[in-house]
Amino acid sequence: MPPSSFVVAIDGPTASGKGTLAKRLARHLGFAHLDSGLLYRAVGLALIRAGKDPGDQAAALAAAEGLDPAGLADPDLRQERTGQAASVVAAMPEVRAALLAFQRRFAAAPPGGAKGAVLDGRDIGTVVCPAAAAKIFLDAGVEKRAARREKELRQRGEIIIEGAVLRDLQERDARDRNRAVAPLVAAGDAYVLDTTDMDADQAFEAALAYVNSRSSGGPGGPAAET
Ligand code: C5P
Repeated sequence: MPPSSFVVAIDGPTASGKGTLAKRLARHLGFAHLDSGLLYRAVGLALIRAGKDPGDQAAALAAAEGLDPAGLADPDLRQERTGQAASVVAAMPEVRAALLAFQRRFAAAPPGGAKGAVLDGRDIGTVVCPAAAAKIFLDAGVEKRAARREKELRQRGEIIIEGAVLRDLQERDARDRNRAVAPLVAAGDAYVLDTTDMDADQAFEAALAYVNSRSSGGPGGPAAET
């Protein structure tokens, strides 16, 4: 039996601040971090580069099965069109199944010998790691999320079309929440954190207090499990 790993599952809609929170928690706790959205983005990007339609199921499955973790640092994964393609392939059950084992292995045996892992996505607390020691569902109003995303894109020097970011988020929210397989929903035992009126520091402090409360000995203590 591998030693048990303390798993923190963070789910939430697009641009809810999951990535920022997950990275910061992982750094603070000395845990490994997996942004599971990158896996779906990598599949979407492979299709775009091959000139295929993101709705092409056979091509999407082949890309998911051949996924190379070394490619997860590609900056093109962050593009908006890659995110759109990712949310199309993410609705395919075969693609989700193909990416499940990688995520579970990461959680159970975090790279670098870390004592725990923080995974963020849409279905970490419900499907990937239903027995995670700590589960956070991060939410914020769609207009607030659009404003944050626009600021981020401007900082990267991208050109913003009025209203386009909000429309894109609404489309992706609808697709992620309404799909038949692993829809975006808070796990029944998740700590729901609405950050509409919080800044990143306040969200971090609230999340950290919750994570610490999940184990009497602190993360890695007696309540740790995968
Ligand atoms: O989080 P991010 O925006 O990078 O994710 C891109 C897309 O991948 C999401 O819109 C969602 O459809 C999909 N995704 C998913 N399950 C996850 C992570 C991401 O379905 N665990």
